[in-house]
Order: sequence, then C-alpha cells, then structure tokens
Amino acid sequence: MIFESHAHYDDEAFDQDREEILRECRDQGIEAIVNVSASLSSVKSTLALAKQYPFLYAAVGIHPDETGELNEESFAWLREQCRQPKVVAVGEIGLDYYWDKERHELQKYWFHRQMELAKELKLPVIIHSREAAADTLEAVQKAHSPKLRGVIHCFSYTAELARAYLDMGYYIGIGGVVTFKNAKKLKEVVKMLPLERILLETDCPYLAPEPHRGKRNSSLNLPYIAEAIGRLKGVETEKVIRVTNENAKALYFGT
Ligand code: NI
Repeated sequence: MIFESHAHYDDEAFDQDREEILRECRDQGIEAIVNVSASLSSVKSTLALAKQYPFLYAAVGIHPDETGELNEESFAWLREQCRQPKVVAVGEIGLDYYWDKERHELQKYWFHRQMELAKELKLPVIIHSREAAADTLEAVQKAHSPKLRGVIHCFSYTAELARAYLDMGYYIGIGGVVTFKNAKKLKEVVKMLPLERILLETDCPYLAPEPHRGKRNSSLNLPYIAEAIGRLKGVETEKVIRVTNENAKALYFGT
C-alpha cells in the first residue's frame, strides 16, 4: 500500500471536498498520509485532521516563508504541539530564497532552532529548500548528528548534492516533478538514488504529476509518480510502492 509522505489537506483548495477525497484515498489503497504544516494556523488545522482521520499523521513546523510568525512565545507553543499524539515529524522547515519572503538571517535562525527542537524531541525533520542549496547544506551539516534524521522534500538540486544528504542519512522526497518532460536534472538524481532512500510524496494540492499537470493534486496521483520512478530505475511500480512505504515507516514511525 502507498505511503503519502507529504501532503497539505488542510489547504483551502480542499475545503469543498476534503472528506470525500480523504475517504477515496483510504479506499484506493493509501495506507497513511503525513499532513505537513507550514504556519501556526496550519499546525492547528493539521492536528485537527490527525484527530479526525485514523490514517492521517501530523508534521508540526514553520515554513521559511512564515518564520516572521515565530518568537520565543510562539516557539514554546510549537514545542508543546510537537508532543501531541500522532505528531511524527518537525516540518516543514528550511530555507526559501525563491519567494524570499523573510530575511535570510531570520530563515536560517529558525531553521536551526527547529532542527535543534527535532533533536531534543527525537523527531525527524521535513526540510524544504528552494534556491538555497549552499545555505541549506551548511545549516544541515551544522545541525548534523546521528540523532537527527529527515527527508529533503521535493528535492530540486543536483545528484552531487543528493549524495551529500544521503551520506548524512537523509531520505530524498520525490514528487510530481519527476513526471515532467523537462525535469532532466531530477531524473538523473532519481537514477542515482538507492530506492531504499526515496520517499513518495505529492505536496498536494501543488505539483500534480503528468497527466494531470497544472490541476489540483491529491495522493490519488501517487501511482503516476511511483511508475515514473520505476521506469527510471528499471523496477516494477509495485516494488517502488512497497519499498517507499517501508522507508516512510522507518523514518516517521521508527519501524
Ligand atoms: Ni509542502
């Protein structure tokens, strides 16, 4: 069965039919979903979804674009939320110099604090990094410890950089972009990655794979992503689904 390692079902894009979609996911063989928060308000909505749906788990963290919301008081609140049942990761956290919504120094500061929080609470991290390759690597190396595990979600850098993260024990999240014709660099990365270190993800409602590119995404599209990975690696789609499921459970559930 499929493990969805990164979704945003609290997004307003699902306000009209959230219950239907999640029921369909369950019926279509999605075994588990990690819903990832990005802001203080989405931490609340993510935890509410985790309470409501037995197969949905929560990641609690503040996205680099939203780090302006953080101060010692809100950070203390965030730490408390990490102790709620069904919280399986700190995320998504990281650096985003594409949207560039917050000062780089502020993004780096709260990225580091949230990685330290994950270490303290023995939770893995879900890392978002866009147009910030060098600074992300530096921050992750600085926080590196055998106690800190995680995934680089929606990986968008080179094979060489993927290797550096593999060497530190990280998983690499692969989503809809791998199905795009123009995604040459990512396809090279996927060919190089051991299947044992890949997580399947949608990042829905964003980044729908071919043949649904541009439309609202959901976990129901994960088979297209598994199929594309299988083609690149010369393995059956079923095997991609099975191994990435084991990988996600190892990371999020420690099994
Ligand atoms: Ni995301």
